Amino acid sequence: MEFTHEPVLLKETIEYLKCQKNGVYVDGTLGRGGHTRAILDEIAGQGTVIAIDRDTEAIEAVSGSFDDQNLELVHGNFINIPEILANRGLEAVDGMVFDLGVSSPQFDNPERGFSYQYNAPLDMRMNLKQDLTARDIVNKYSAEELTSIIKKYGEDRWASRIADFIVKFRQDNEIITTHELVKVIKAAIPASARRSGGHPARRTFQALRIATNDELKQLEDLINNAVPYLKSGGRICIISFHSLEDRIVKWGFRELAKKCDCPPDFPVCVCDREPSIKIITRKPVRASQTEIDSNPRARSAKLRVAEKF
Ligand SMILES: C[S@@+](CC[C@H](N)C(=O)[O-])C[C@H]1O[C@@H](n2cnc3c(N)ncnc32)[C@H](O)[C@@H]1O
Repeated sequence: MEFTHEPVLLKETIEYLKCQKNGVYVDGTLGRGGHTRAILDEIAGQGTVIAIDRDTEAIEAVSGSFDDQNLELVHGNFINIPEILANRGLEAVDGMVFDLGVSSPQFDNPERGFSYQYNAPLDMRMNLKQDLTARDIVNKYSAEELTSIIKKYGEDRWASRIADFIVKFRQDNEIITTHELVKVIKAAIPASARRSGGHPARRTFQALRIATNDELKQLEDLINNAVPYLKSGGRICIISFHSLEDRIVKWGFRELAKKCDCPPDFPVCVCDREPSIKIITRKPVRASQTEIDSNPRARSAKLRVAEKF
């Protein structure tokens, strides 16, 4: 079956990226190549796009449909940008794009186990070569660890009850499939609370996906690892989909844009700190109503952009 992905905030991202015809660009989250395609069109056969994804299915899908000579596909993790560029003899690039989270094909392919809608093995790995799966987390982590994951990454008020129900259920049977887990979650949440707030398993599934793929820690590392590899004037564009991610991008950019680290009661600056970036989007850029109407996934998307000094 052919799965597709509708890129979000595409026009806005490309405008902010300000591509130069002979520039080198990194798309750190290839997916089905929506942003990569637009950058390739901007540079019109002259520059290079290095497109990275940790999912081999993304790499295979795009290599089968794009035949651009100036596109380099890399199966890897965006936190390894320093090594990925060094292996190609590159010290810095002209711009970078990161469109975080899962792609629609990952979500819509029942076999990947990301969705509570389909019954499938509890997997949720973006990188199919990674050892840790959602099944390991659900069946091996302590009640305290599960509570912390569901509370922190899913912001679910029933986190500790869900964790307790999981631990109780797995004493007799390992939880192997998405629908077994959905059943346990439904049993944990009181019927009155289940009537509002969307599908009762939504938050727990989001939390498990973030934990399985270590998404938030990797996002923190990404900002610090990637910015030094931008040329002066080069831009980094990051699209996030929930508040936890957006907070990391906002504070990560602010930290690198800070002009002074001195305590507030110092009369003069003595730290000699040099900001490495300038923040271009004071507030995150949101999708237009027209885009949201045609692609509901765009509703929660937030784009933040910074430029290297
Ligand atoms: C939202 S999709 C990107 C969609 C893409 N912009 C498009 O238009 O088709 C996110 C992609 O990033 C990949 N990804 C997420 N975290 C990653 C990481 N740390 N390193 C590399 N790829 C990652 C996922 O596997 C997924 O394919």
